[in-house]
Amino acid sequence: MTDTGRSYCVVVGSLNIDLFVTAERPPRKGETVLGTGFGLFPGGKGANQAVQLARLGSETYIVGRIGADIFADQVVGSLEAAAVRTDYLIKDAGAGTGKGCVFSDAAGDNWIVVVPEANMRWQSHDIENARALIQGARALIVQLEIPLPVVARAIDLACEADVLVVLNPAPASELPGGLLRKVDLLVPNETEASILAGLSVGDVESAKEAARLLQSKADNTVTITLGSAGSVTATGDDIIHTPAFPVEVADVTAAGDSFCACLAYALTESHDLETALRFASAGGALSVTRLGAQPSLPTLDEINTFLEHPGG
Ligand code: RIB
Repeated sequence: MTDTGRSYCVVVGSLNIDLFVTAERPPRKGETVLGTGFGLFPGGKGANQAVQLARLGSETYIVGRIGADIFADQVVGSLEAAAVRTDYLIKDAGAGTGKGCVFSDAAGDNWIVVVPEANMRWQSHDIENARALIQGARALIVQLEIPLPVVARAIDLACEADVLVVLNPAPASELPGGLLRKVDLLVPNETEASILAGLSVGDVESAKEAARLLQSKADNTVTITLGSAGSVTATGDDIIHTPAFPVEVADVTAAGDSFCACLAYALTESHDLETALRFASAGGALSVTRLGAQPSLPTLDEINTFLEHPGG
């Protein structure tokens, strides 16, 4: 992917406040367990990816909706502290800010329930108002925590202007083939890839099969993230397994967001694909060493230092 001379990235997506709970293990049905910690962290896949891009030094705009409630200031504050441009953020007086109810166990694995609230209340003119912004961007990054027609329209606007389109298809959902063909880089995790490819992805070999299948259907680049097993990328010519960096896992929340944003950033900075994948892998690795979504996202300096001495 080449340098287009355009200066900024646009994320069209969700913003949440995360109610983050840690406990040794998740409760069984009907059971109560005592937790070990609680935090209120800014999250939402769209906001997380925007913050990650900004922490890398990318000029980044977020287009999205928050509620007019007690959580909005914390969510906007985190974006502004990272220097994400919030000019296209709409405050919805009729809804609450989206909530992410995140449970993280002793191994750092998580379970998330999202209550979208304002994130699902887009009006059609909201995205039309961002047309010029999207069409002047170096990349559009989208996920699936906002209405699918808004995602599809944002992608169409980007395609009209040859803007690089990155789709992180989370939460998992089936998607029309026509939409996938407009995406330049598709970044699902194993659950999302299983649904999109219609086969069970659980290891590197099955990920290779799914990545090849999705790549051939959409004629784009597909990177399937596999947690501690790294990632698998299919292009028209190649299939690449990028190992994960071994790190001590505190919490995996937003690791996929970090990976996806780091990969988009590195490609827009004209790094070759293998270098970009290693950079994204470092971003994801650093993010899992810390608790929560946005507090865990690394800066460019942190990633570069880590890449010089990945063993610590
Ligand atoms: O990817 C992690 C994010 O998913 C959390 O921040 C939560 O809000 C949900 O959107």
